[in-house]
Amino acid sequence: MAAQLPRRICCIGAGYVGGPTMAVIADRCPQIDVTVVDLNAERIALWNHDDLSRLPVYEPGLDAVVARCRGRNLHFSTAVEEAIAAADMVFLSVNTPTKTRGLGAGQASDLKWIEASARTVAKAARGHTIVVEKSTLPVRTAEAVKAILGCAEPGQSFAVLSNPEFLAEGTAVADLEAPDRVLIGGEDPEAIEALAAIYAHWVPQQRILRTNIWSSELGKLAANAFLAQRVSSINSIAAFCEASGADVNEVARAIGSDSRIGPKFLKAGPGFGGSCFQKDILNLVYLCRHYGLQEVAGYWEQVVSLNSWQQHRIARLVVQRLFGTVTGKRLVLLGFAFKADTNDTRASPAIQIARDLIEEGAHLQILDPKVSPAQIEADLGQPPGQGEASWAPCASLEQGATGADALLLLTEWQQFSRIDWAATAALMRRPAWLFDARGSADQQAARAAGLNVWRVGEG
Ligand code: UDX
Ligand code: UDX
Repeated sequence: MAAQLPRRICCIGAGYVGGPTMAVIADRCPQIDVTVVDLNAERIALWNHDDLSRLPVYEPGLDAVVARCRGRNLHFSTAVEEAIAAADMVFLSVNTPTKTRGLGAGQASDLKWIEASARTVAKAARGHTIVVEKSTLPVRTAEAVKAILGCAEPGQSFAVLSNPEFLAEGTAVADLEAPDRVLIGGEDPEAIEALAAIYAHWVPQQRILRTNIWSSELGKLAANAFLAQRVSSINSIAAFCEASGADVNEVARAIGSDSRIGPKFLKAGPGFGGSCFQKDILNLVYLCRHYGLQEVAGYWEQVVSLNSWQQHRIARLVVQRLFGTVTGKRLVLLGFAFKADTNDTRASPAIQIARDLIEEGAHLQILDPKVSPAQIEADLGQPPGQGEASWAPCASLEQGATGADALLLLTEWQQFSRIDWAATAALMRRPAWLFDARGSADQQAARAAGLNVWRVGEG
């Protein structure tokens, strides 16, 4: 059966997932008209901005893709209902944060935006519409989406698919252009093939996996849980290495050479961050409890507990090395994003570490090449200031390091591996420290410049 390729698609949610995903689809399928809509007018204005360096999502290569397609077959708009009415396929890519109140607070996903989007689709869609869940959702959300769509006017019909996105931030464009797999879950073969036909423009057929809808929803949660578990596993070993005299890089190499384990995702660090890992595991934990699987819930919950412990542990050991007090001391945070090559700070380990150090009375100078001071202020819940228990953005490493007692490397930005340690150390107050929570600084040079160095996982 030759699948009917959709002519017009609409994506609700112009965020980290919706924006790049739709840009790549528009780029690879010039015959499909793609409109990305969002309630946030400011965000849409930035997607439409002439200056491509101001796109609301920073991803290497994204500006070039947007430059090629925008105005041709890629549009960004706030006219949500109009775009839905015109589309034969609608992607739901709105955010699904962890609930902060009510039943399941702290664990369950808040689905109010998914529900609101489904209601808008039910109201605005015309004729037959394929609705695709792009957001990571708790297993069986499609049932709720279907129930809402089922109340639409006569003359409308819908098919619901799950098509979770596996892109990682910082490599979104590369991940979208060459995905390990594309997962499509659903019951309606025609709808599945219509979506598969889009991806078939650039993804080999054997990488397009068709499953039932629940396997697809759970496939995404489980993939993130397994990845996060590897990070917690290596961080647990890092702590043990520090205590016992082993080196986590050597241990990672030893275990990663086993082809059954593999070398990726074995980098010790300040703990995982990002919008997905913690949220998805807590969601998995909540669902397991719901189904009465206490032991399974407890097993996965431990992955998150170890991650928080790692963050507090790093803040604590900084205080200990600085003679047990950081009150009034000047510490420079190198990096605030949850990983390199993104401006995203959601669940960044830097937030917890910064909070702990501010709580201890430190003055933090925060340097990140892509994160705005306004974002840091929102994350730390306090405006910039001077003196004890405060933080300030720093314009340059020179400015931040002058008179500082320690530098904490928290995000593995390339530029931090090329620091001129002799020049930097000369500006600091002695004894001065480098705490390298990513293991990515040139520690030999730092030591040669007279700094005391702590590196994660080094005994
Ligand atoms: C989000 C979730 O975090 C992730 O779990 C899921 O897989 C995809 O959606 P992301 O794209 O990173 O990922 O979220 P975000 O950057 O917050 O973008 C969501 C966008 O949806 C926001 O721009 C928001 O304004 C928009 N939105 C939200 C709507 O347009 N309408 C709504 O009703 C709700
Ligand atoms: C993740 C998944 O990789 C992706 O498939 C999914 O769609 C969304 O969630 P992302 O959160 O963007 O992507 O980044 P990822 O590269 O997976 O890193 C997550 C966190 O783990 C980061 O804080 C990173 O620094 C940390 N990490 C990763 C480590 O500490 N060590 C590693 O070896 C790998």
